[in-house]
Amino acid sequence: MSPQPEFWNDPIYLKTAQYRTDENLAARQLLHQRFSVNPQNWMVWVFGMGRVEANHTLLDVGCGNGTLWEENFSVEHPAQLDVTLLDLSRGMVATAAETLANRVSSWRAIEGDVMALPLPENHFDRVFANHMLYHVPDPAKAVAELWRVLRPQGKLVAALNGTGHMRELWRLVGELLGVEPPKNSAAVFDPDTAASLFRVRFRRVTRHPFDDSLRVTDADLLWAYVLSTNALARTRTSSDRLNTIEQQFKDRVTQAIRTSGYFYIKKEVVAFVCQK
Ligand SMILES: C[S@@+](CC[C@H](N)C(=O)[O-])C[C@H]1O[C@@H](n2cnc3c(N)ncnc32)[C@H](O)[C@@H]1O
Repeated sequence: MSPQPEFWNDPIYLKTAQYRTDENLAARQLLHQRFSVNPQNWMVWVFGMGRVEANHTLLDVGCGNGTLWEENFSVEHPAQLDVTLLDLSRGMVATAAETLANRVSSWRAIEGDVMALPLPENHFDRVFANHMLYHVPDPAKAVAELWRVLRPQGKLVAALNGTGHMRELWRLVGELLGVEPPKNSAAVFDPDTAASLFRVRFRRVTRHPFDDSLRVTDADLLWAYVLSTNALARTRTSSDRLNTIEQQFKDRVTQAIRTSGYFYIKKEVVAFVCQK
């Protein structure tokens, strides 16, 4: 049953399949954009955690398609900032570069691995590493690298999901497949383990939960989210059975929408702020 650890942190799978392009990530982002209850935009909130100041030197590791920059800066009013984007996936780097161009005064986008950052030490005022540390085979090595490239007093902002994140969704998927619910990213790297690792390196570590949930009113978009995660592909279920499960899934979600107005999913998201 999936997602299993090798799905979460196998660099070959991540580079060549899951994140070869931003298609899967975009399917998940769309669900959050459309159905999140908290009116506060997540990307704006998590960026705010960094307390970024004019002329800061910034790094975004595991930048994905660059949504952090799209949601915080506009091409109409580019910011006086120096930004470096880095991602394991070439496709993501290309998409993020397109997103970032013209939004800040100075930038570069590079392919690289957080476990061996091709960047100088004591260089950045702020480093963002959002929703990516659970993809890393050796998180302690990654945290050591994030610490190394920060200036003294500099801050790391790192977001992760908790064990209960989107439990209602995975419970339904498991029930329809007749198996244990697929585990989320916290099975590989949970916020408590992260907190311990951060405290080994950083002088001050604070933890900030982001209270949110989803009220989903579109069964097709929720099914697209499930497909984007690879949770079904790895069950080696026949295509006939998958078609049946898809129908049953959509029926159950539609039924919830009819009775309650939406299919409810609780999020469990946390941002850490770690000062060097
Ligand atoms: C879930 S996405 C998060 C993207 C973005 N930070 C966000 O919050 O929307 C995870 C990203 O981490 C990247 N990634 C995975 N392993 C990595 C590694 N070892 N080093 C750098 N980036 C990595 C993936 O390619 C993917 O773009």
